[in-house]
Amino acid sequence: MIPLSVPNLSGNEWKYVKDCLDTNWVSSVGSYVNQFEELAAKFSSVTRAVATVNGTSALHISLILSGVQRDDLVILPNITFVAPANVIKYMGADPILMDVDEHTWQLDIALLTRFFEQECLIKEDTCHHKNTGRRISAIIPVHVLGNMVNMEKLLPLADYYKIKVIEDATEALGSTYKGKPAGSFGLFGCLSYNGNKIITTGGGGMILTNDKELGEKAKHLTTQAKADPLEYYHDEIGYNYRLVNILAAIGVAQMEQLPAFIDRKRNVSELYTRELKDVPGFKPQVITEHVNPNCWLFTCCFENSKGLLKYLNDNGVQTRPFWVPMNQLPPFKNDLYFHVDDIAGSVYKSCLSMPCSTNISDKEVIEVSNKIKEFYA
Ligand SMILES: Cc1ncc(COP(=O)(O)O)c(C=O)c1O
Repeated sequence: MIPLSVPNLSGNEWKYVKDCLDTNWVSSVGSYVNQFEELAAKFSSVTRAVATVNGTSALHISLILSGVQRDDLVILPNITFVAPANVIKYMGADPILMDVDEHTWQLDIALLTRFFEQECLIKEDTCHHKNTGRRISAIIPVHVLGNMVNMEKLLPLADYYKIKVIEDATEALGSTYKGKPAGSFGLFGCLSYNGNKIITTGGGGMILTNDKELGEKAKHLTTQAKADPLEYYHDEIGYNYRLVNILAAIGVAQMEQLPAFIDRKRNVSELYTRELKDVPGFKPQVITEHVNPNCWLFTCCFENSKGLLKYLNDNGVQTRPFWVPMNQLPPFKNDLYFHVDDIAGSVYKSCLSMPCSTNISDKEVIEVSNKIKEFYA
């Protein structure tokens, strides 16, 4: 089976993990956590990075520190992995699902603008949703598949409507918009080091911010809000969300290889695009203008994609459907979905993700492409 997207642990992972085991620094403190945070901040051009147990917890803390309250509304694209939608619910808030652009599959900025103009008003320095009277406190632009939302258009809108921006950059580590890294635009940016991501720590995440005070608070909240170095004095409700040293050691080794991984992902994407260009209904994701994507997970539309999905999985090629749009999932089906044509629904129906691990060979990419052509022959 050619796998979809698996870890590539070919660098110093063993060496650094062995160092943790040899020195007994395996748990919640240790020098690799600090090193990993410093490397992450530098790579993403932010002043502070706080390592967490996963991307979901990074999003959770970011929403808390953005001031999202119970009964608030938070804007989210309808096409996303479910984690940010869940996190909104953890807060006692609800998502406003926004349809996506039919070409880039990112949150549709023109639609978002229309939503603000038609459905929102600013009252006492706060954005309110006219129909429900509820406060809209934040937006989570998800940089879907390593492509990016047009941040140059989104930021002034969010600023005008007084809502906080928390970037879900979990899939976009290494992607840039006009040279500026994903995750460095919002009040917070969140990364994931889950096993299928461009680099992995097995499980892990990172909160990125340029706000010194909020960075300190993020560290405080992720470490049980312990406010005294000696006494067990906790000054607010904290979370045990800190990444352990042994996983951060893997993260440091992975960061050393990240530029090479990004290059490889881009090459794989180019090779697939070349090989598949004549396949029926083949439509790759269009990259947002000014974005240099990390090409994290090669995903594209085909004719009869569900038939192809079965054929490839039955024939040694691990292929995955795109995420079911949030409005079609039971926990979110009653939430507001702002759309005209339900682009999310049609993208979901026709898209598939192809094997594209950083250690996939060109020969395997061609083998997958030939299997696809065989299906349509
Ligand atoms: C868009 C998106 N958001 C959030 C997450 C959550 O990250 P994690 O699995 O590390 O909690 C993921 C990936 O898993 C993701 O793809």
